[in-house]
Amino acid sequence: MTDTLLQFRTVTKRFISGDSSLIILEGIDFGLEEGSSVAITGKSGCGKSTFLNIAGALDRPSEGSVLFKGKDLGGMGDRELSRFRNRHVGFVFQSHILLEDFSALENVCVPAMIRGAMRKEVTARATELLDRVGLAQRLHHKPGKLSGGERQRVAICRALMNSPDLIIADEPTGSLDEDSSDAIENLLFDLVKEEGRTLLMVTHDMELASRCSTVYLLHNRSLQGIS
Ligand SMILES: Nc1ncnc2c1ncn2[C@@H]1O[C@H](COP(=O)(O)OP(=O)(O)O)[C@@H](O)[C@H]1O
Ligand SMILES: [Mg+2]
Repeated sequence: MTDTLLQFRTVTKRFISGDSSLIILEGIDFGLEEGSSVAITGKSGCGKSTFLNIAGALDRPSEGSVLFKGKDLGGMGDRELSRFRNRHVGFVFQSHILLEDFSALENVCVPAMIRGAMRKEVTARATELLDRVGLAQRLHHKPGKLSGGERQRVAICRALMNSPDLIIADEPTGSLDEDSSDAIENLLFDLVKEEGRTLLMVTHDMELASRCSTVYLLHNRSLQGIS
């Protein structure tokens, strides 16, 4: 039997600018089972990032609710939500937001240091993750000395560092060339499986999407199952 990790209950999101209000997501019901992998596709501007931001508690719905392991995130204040994200969600975005003055190893350690984990244990896990993605020789390099693909590998390790229940990836390889993209998306997919995590990702790579448990198209403000 599987448990539902994340649940959207009739989620609507609108953005207000000046006098007008734009509905981006409307009445979405969505459940994400623990251990599953879900791919979302859709045209540029259709609301994919908005959907992921709400799923990862970076943004709140305008109406409806989001439950994580049955707990309503709407009842949490901003500090509690930051803490929640640090423990339970790992994000990988299109552009690698790394701390430029820190080494690859230090960047990966950051989420665990924020959590208050022991330094020795943190360094061991970060080193192991970086080794797993083929960066054992790059531990002490700063992001400026790494290629785009290497930086994205560091971002993936950082997202996995605290062993979060949920990994959210928003077009994680959108800024890389096709060959590196395929390699990195597949690496992300394999790592999430190895670590037994749940994956929610936006991707345009249909081959990768087909490896996911479920694929949805975001269209006309709602999700349509396509496989
Ligand atoms: N913070 C915001 N304020 C106003 N409009 C926004 C905001 N974020 C996104 N939008 C608008 O919502 C729509 C969906 O954006 P987004 O979720 O980024 O789409 P996608 O990721 O599918 O390309 C776009 O029209 C975008 O301009
Ligand atoms: Mg987007």
